[in-house]
Amino acid sequence: MATLKEVLLEATREAGKIIQHYFQGSFKVENKDTVNNLVTEVDKHAETRIIEVIKQYFPEHAIMSEEIGELKKDSPYQWIIDPIDGTVNFAHGIPICCVSIGLKHEDSMLLGAVYNPMMNELFFAEKGKGAFLNDEPISVSKKSDFRKACLVTGFPYNWPQTSEHPIRVFERFILEGLPVRRLGSAAIDLCWVACGRFDGFWEYNLNPWDIAAGYLIVEEAGGKITNFAGAPYTVFDKETLATNGLIHEAMQSIIHNKKK
Ligand code: IPD
Ligand code: CA
Ligand code: CA
Repeated sequence: MATLKEVLLEATREAGKIIQHYFQGSFKVENKDTVNNLVTEVDKHAETRIIEVIKQYFPEHAIMSEEIGELKKDSPYQWIIDPIDGTVNFAHGIPICCVSIGLKHEDSMLLGAVYNPMMNELFFAEKGKGAFLNDEPISVSKKSDFRKACLVTGFPYNWPQTSEHPIRVFERFILEGLPVRRLGSAAIDLCWVACGRFDGFWEYNLNPWDIAAGYLIVEEAGGKITNFAGAPYTVFDKETLATNGLIHEAMQSIIHNKKK
């Protein structure tokens, strides 16, 4: 009998093969709700293959996947799938995109994998057992001086109605003189915090499939992930702040416009 981890990695690698096969090739691209929110036939193809692999071993498990929605809900195990995170990059032949799959049991994330086949980078974490990049243990950066931090963010397709405009917050970080990157894949942003390339990441309005795997990978790499108020995080949160832990409060102060 295959383990949960083996099935997760098989599904992740299968999707990775599909993504790599079509990358910079030709495929159908459609618009979703907004003009820049795209879905390609490759997203759907990868999603179908991931679900096939999971169902082959664990047909009783619940699934939440970006393009197809929720399948079966009455199981304590739920696979949370983003077949391609960074679809706009993928559609433009930009090699910053990945498959992201997390496995939740009851209320906690058990396993997560994020795979960018174009860069041959497979991030993986298991609750309580650490985080890995291509089987090597990873950890967040040790930078405590916020002035020297390198940050990453993303902009949602739909602006949040209930909080300050994300551009204002972005502007404050830029005016602090910090380098802030925008890669276009929240799952990769989180993994790059986990392996210390970035010191912090924030974004509004992400969905569970963008975050599920990366969330566990950051935590298992020793990082901190909360909402903007600093409260414990769930994959259903609409505000995501992930850091090395050392610059968390400094980032919160900028987000809330409270200069120290
Ligand atoms: C998007 C990416 C992007 C983030 C968007 C997400 P998609 O996911 O993660 O970085 O800024 O909010 O929706 O559409 O490429 O799967
Ligand atoms: Ca996504
Ligand atoms: Ca996606």
